[in-house]
Amino acid sequence: DNSQLALTPPMGFNTWNTFQTNINEQMLKEMVDTYVSSGMRDAGYRYFVLDDGWMTMDRDANGDLVADPKKFPHGMKAFADYVHSKGLKFGIYNCAGDRTCAGYPGTRGHEYQDAHLYASWDVDYLKYDWCNTDSLNAREAYITMSKALKATGRPIVFSLCEWGNHQPWLWGKGVGQLWRSTGDICNQFDKDKNIGAWTALSVMTILDKQDKIRQYAGPGHWNDPDMLEVGNGMSVSEDRAHFSLWCMLAAPLMAGNDLRKMSPQTHEILTNKEAIAVDQDSLGIQGFRFYAFDGLEMWVKPLSKQDVAICFLNRSTHPQNIDYTWEAHVLQDAVSHLNINFTEGEYKVRDLWAKKDLGTTKKAFKQTIASHDVVMLRLHKGN
Ligand code: GLA
Repeated sequence: DNSQLALTPPMGFNTWNTFQTNINEQMLKEMVDTYVSSGMRDAGYRYFVLDDGWMTMDRDANGDLVADPKKFPHGMKAFADYVHSKGLKFGIYNCAGDRTCAGYPGTRGHEYQDAHLYASWDVDYLKYDWCNTDSLNAREAYITMSKALKATGRPIVFSLCEWGNHQPWLWGKGVGQLWRSTGDICNQFDKDKNIGAWTALSVMTILDKQDKIRQYAGPGHWNDPDMLEVGNGMSVSEDRAHFSLWCMLAAPLMAGNDLRKMSPQTHEILTNKEAIAVDQDSLGIQGFRFYAFDGLEMWVKPLSKQDVAICFLNRSTHPQNIDYTWEAHVLQDAVSHLNINFTEGEYKVRDLWAKKDLGTTKKAFKQTIASHDVVMLRLHKGN
């Protein structure tokens, strides 16, 4: 029973968004060191995940996968030990098909053998992709790998990377702890990127696909809107908006930037503990869009102890003024069965990026939000 494995959305680092298959032991060790020295670990990040490209192009004589000796001269167990020695957990990648998306050997037909190998390396997390799967049935393929992982006896978080075409939110609970809800993200705020045969999705495109599946997320079973692009080329305000919204969605937070070259702004965004606390809230309720008008949106996420997170998002290309009277609205959430009434309960208002207390919901909230930026608030009912 792995249902207790990810009671809050998994947090970590994954190599793909910055390095693709250009990884090696030396630079990864530097990344692990920076993970700790930068305060990422202390901010709650736990997993260090190798994505595609860690293997040789062929299995060995026994049919086992082989860590590429040029990239990992000391082997994968030694690297896993290094990750563990820093108080982190270790993740790895493969694919349900014959080959991974980058063409390395896939797991199809070797599910139990590969699971056994990962367990022998002390792997704690497996991201399992969906390329080159021909006639495979998605649900069955993921159930097979899920059983193989459970058979090892080692608790291994299972991250389903099926891109949403087979609606994994309908069957993923109990199979894995998280499932991708869309195709791949790219480092653009609201313009998708055409990459030959396929389209990489902007932050806003992915955001717009999350609302209708929010009832399927909860403790131990999360919608995954893909890994973070913070620090990968968007503006600071766009990065801040992206991160805030992923926190509002109770999304897994997998950093995808070069940790060794973080700007102070990237560091501040990724390690904002009050924003992270919204993501990691124990109720595990995925936030929803309460209001959208003329490029200005208001997102709401019910939190434990009757707190509420609010995120105002400006999608337009010009600054926008908010003048929001809390008393005028009762927020109803069909998923959490909560009615949040700002007239009955007076809330204290905290700005999570300015790190300032702003008074209470008795007075209207007035602020100007820059283009492609957010204001993220925590409303607190107690003292
Ligand atoms: C797919 C996944 C990505 C990444 C690559 C690796 O595109 O969706 O997240 O794992 O494969 O090849």
